[in-house]
Amino acid sequence: MRLIDHLIMSISAKMWAKMEWTRWYTLLRVDYFRELVVAWRKRYFIERQNALRVWDGDNRRMTIMKSGLSTIEHNLEGLHDIRGIRGLRIIRPLSVIETYRPLSIMPAASRGYDQDYISTAMVLDIGPRTEGELFSLMAYGFRMPNIRGLDLISYSPMIDLGDMHAMPYQDDTFDIVIASCVLVYSTDPKKACDEMVRVTKSGGLICISQDTIPETGIAAVGALGKQLSKIDDYLELFTPHVDRIFFSHELPDRLKPINLDAGEGSNYTTGLIFSIKKAG
Ligand SMILES: C[S@@+](CC[C@H](N)C(=O)[O-])C[C@H]1O[C@@H](n2cnc3c(N)ncnc32)[C@H](O)[C@@H]1O
Repeated sequence: MRLIDHLIMSISAKMWAKMEWTRWYTLLRVDYFRELVVAWRKRYFIERQNALRVWDGDNRRMTIMKSGLSTIEHNLEGLHDIRGIRGLRIIRPLSVIETYRPLSIMPAASRGYDQDYISTAMVLDIGPRTEGELFSLMAYGFRMPNIRGLDLISYSPMIDLGDMHAMPYQDDTFDIVIASCVLVYSTDPKKACDEMVRVTKSGGLICISQDTIPETGIAAVGALGKQLSKIDDYLELFTPHVDRIFFSHELPDRLKPINLDAGEGSNYTTGLIFSIKKAG
């Protein structure tokens, strides 16, 4: 088993790059296959490489869960969930947006239509928890070397340890920044959103997705003193940087009630994708 692990890991990066033309990565769109790959890598990195690490910086901006657990403790418990389903709900619409660059910075010949952006876009996924979302991005054509994750927990070479309120990246590093079900962990979401704008290039895309329980608006954020389940709440946080809104999925008015006591999860996801503008 160790030999097989070693063989697969040592051939992967170079071989996958050479196999690009086969578009093998579209196989990752099959949930079972993607989950198998993510589960195998998780086991490899945690059990074989002993690579599980947690962030140990200042945690004043983080929420304590109702259970009394810290953000890190709570999410370590959730590490078994490798499906990345909530992220997929924003990655799928993201994958069909072809005109994210501001028209002014595109060459005249391709103005308004950049077909190749997916294969070249630098993507940051904040709070992916596992590699599930990162492999979902690959399933839709984003390239492994162009994808970074940032989280308080990491076992993966693709996920940097760090805090979304003070990210370890330079200004204007990414074309696309994704935050799926992450802002709710902040007691200072404005600071987190400012950081997202800082590391995104002007004209780049910010993608927010949040599962929301309609009756309670569970996506409540402590310091903000109000619920963040409406698209307008998110847009307000990013003012004055919102440019063009490409995708906006508000919860429908009439929804089937969710019975949390019966163990039902929050099945409804608010989603937003917009490009940003920066001064200068
Ligand atoms: C509910 S999980 C979301 C996982 C996945 N993105 C999804 O949508 O299913 C929230 C993730 O955000 C991370 N997180 C919470 N606060 C963070 C912070 N201040 N900086 C970076 N990551 C954070 C947690 O560790 C966790 O992995």
